[in-house]
Amino acid sequence: MKTKILKQLSEQDSYISGQELCDQFGVSRTAIWKVMNQLKEEGYIIESVPNKGYHLVSKPDILSKNEIESGLDTKWAGRKLYYFDETGSTNDDVKRFAEEGDPHGTLVVADKQNAGRGRRGRTWVSEKGDNVYFSIALKPDMSPNNASMLTLVMALAVTKAIREETELEALIKWPNDIVVNHKKVCGMLTEMTMELDYIHEVVIGVGININQTSFPEEIQQNASSLYVEGGKKIMRSALLQKVMRFFEQYYEQFMETQDLSKLIPEYNQLLVNLDTGVKVLDPKGEYEGVARGVDEQGQLLVEKDGEIIKVYAGEVSVRGFYGYV
Ligand code: BTN
Repeated sequence: MKTKILKQLSEQDSYISGQELCDQFGVSRTAIWKVMNQLKEEGYIIESVPNKGYHLVSKPDILSKNEIESGLDTKWAGRKLYYFDETGSTNDDVKRFAEEGDPHGTLVVADKQNAGRGRRGRTWVSEKGDNVYFSIALKPDMSPNNASMLTLVMALAVTKAIREETELEALIKWPNDIVVNHKKVCGMLTEMTMELDYIHEVVIGVGININQTSFPEEIQQNASSLYVEGGKKIMRSALLQKVMRFFEQYYEQFMETQDLSKLIPEYNQLLVNLDTGVKVLDPKGEYEGVARGVDEQGQLLVEKDGEIIKVYAGEVSVRGFYGYV
């Protein structure tokens, strides 16, 4: 009931009468009044006027199960939702829930992680209050070889959501990062559990630096947040709802062919590396070339001495000639 009331309050500019809500939910006026008080305690500014009803005047940046659910317009992405004020790692949580039987699209969101993991065994510092850390579990019926492409699908969704929710020109740094003004604002960690030749689940974990204002020294040079870059505070739940909407849409397009063929034009348009010089940090030997976009398998096409080399994400990192991008 609380989520539904919140949804109605958020969608309506005028007053909703208490009686109307009572009739709708078949509860007493006191029950409605209690829900309103709970919402006020959570930080929502709600005006109540006798004979008129309730009106949501404003809401601060609230990350909660109710707030996320009240504005989620997806069919399956995030429909099963867990929210934690604090956890170890949302990747670990969602993996466990999916193994225990939770459905495709289950989402775990946290305000703080105590054991956030980054790529290559690094830690992902996950302080509370400013950012969002989430992981979605997918159970696609496809070959494990195709799973890494799902990271690119998520990257596209996050980039589009940032662009829609803010005025920032977010771009994708192939394959796992999102950048704004050449600084990293988001990282992703995709993990897969498989048995023989089929996928149990693929987990995509995403950390977006949203309203954070200071960064540890080691990452200061290349890291930023949407707030630092745009100067405007961002509603974390609203951004997350958009990520889920875009992700569901792109995922369905992806699954039609189980490759990126339908998404390539849009992806390449948002690729920060497109037609720029890149340094490919291949464990077998570093080389330089010009990035020409991705192919339908999600490999980066790098032109070197007139030839195209297909770079597979797995072991390789890509840098700009003079720095991170
Ligand atoms: C990277 O850029 O190194 C990847 C960072 C991935 C961080 C996210 S935050 C949510 C999810 N849970 C984790 O422990 N890691 C991912």
